[in-house]
Amino acid sequence: MAGSRIAAMGHYQPSRVVTNDEIAQLVDTNDAWIRDRVGIATRRIAGDETVADMATAAAGKALANSGLTAADIDLVVVATCTSVDRSPNVACRVAAKLGINAPAAYDLNTACSGFAYALGTVDHAIRAGAARNALVIGAEKLSDVTDWTDRSTCIIFGDGAGAAVVTATADDEPTGIGPVVWGSAPEKGDAVRIEGWRPYIAQEGQSVFRWATTALAPLALQACERAGVDPSELAAFVPHQANTRIIDGIAKRLNIPDVIIAKDIVESGNTSAASIPLALSKLVERREVPSGAPVLLFGFGGGLTYAGQVVRCP
Ligand SMILES: CC(C)(COP(=O)(O)OP(=O)(O)OC[C@H]1O[C@@H](n2cnc3c(N)ncnc32)[C@H](O)[C@@H]1OP(=O)(O)O)[C@@H](O)C(=O)NCCC(=O)NCCS
Repeated sequence: MAGSRIAAMGHYQPSRVVTNDEIAQLVDTNDAWIRDRVGIATRRIAGDETVADMATAAAGKALANSGLTAADIDLVVVATCTSVDRSPNVACRVAAKLGINAPAAYDLNTACSGFAYALGTVDHAIRAGAARNALVIGAEKLSDVTDWTDRSTCIIFGDGAGAAVVTATADDEPTGIGPVVWGSAPEKGDAVRIEGWRPYIAQEGQSVFRWATTALAPLALQACERAGVDPSELAAFVPHQANTRIIDGIAKRLNIPDVIIAKDIVESGNTSAASIPLALSKLVERREVPSGAPVLLFGFGGGLTYAGQVVRCP
């Protein structure tokens, strides 16, 4: 098998838009501080929707955009760190709701790097001949694990889902998903946590910030190098949407002044594993990146984990 490519994207966001002013009614903060320090103007917060509901909605759109049907899908992978139920997993729930018959179906939890990890495992499965057409989904309901009295975290997170249909490439077709560069810094694992049975997200913000702005750019460059793509040739850079200052810091070190840089965080907040597919899906929907053009994805977060790869835009 030659490789795999993203055939189509789809996304879903809850309808409720929460502004910084609304959050300032809950904790001692203000719109100017949040915009300046994190770059967020609004985020979407789910109502009754579960992680599986949002994952299904995003996956259904990706499937419709791909021209494939449920019968074509033989693998479903959901990246999430906020699923409440331990079993059945979210992937099985998505498969049941979309009428996908007998797929391999599993969830993967590497927090905010989850989508890029999942894309890596799915690319490997397709190359190994273990699957042909897959749904890869990032879906999160971070509002379930947010302490709305903690101003260091509640300003940051949001809910949503993004999905990709990934399909095998023909033997004579160039691969559309470059080699994944992945890893972790487990010794810093306590820097972002969602611990225990009734958990709240907690973090050492400055330590995450320092790690993200120093350790990640060389790894993102490695992903470009392994794909044989010079950073200047990228059409877009879609990093995890953690903080605009982190995004700008990494982009500066990649030296990509002419490359489109996804900043969906401004309207969507940090949606963990959903942030990369959400941002990429919106770029595709708005036709901001030509089909086939190289796009660098780079996820990072809890664990601490990271993963990234260069993909061809669907
Ligand atoms: C969380 C984060 C925004 C905090 O920004 P920061 O510049 O590091 O802020 P600090 O924690 O140093 O706090 C600076 C001051 O702002 C105050 N502050 C903290 N949160 C505030 C808020 N929401 N509103 C207003 N003031 C706030 C602090 O109390 C502190 O005040 P002091 O100087 O009087 O003590 C930033 O560290 C960050 O984004 N880190 C990365 C986190 C991340 O991306 N996590 C997800 C990983 S996937």
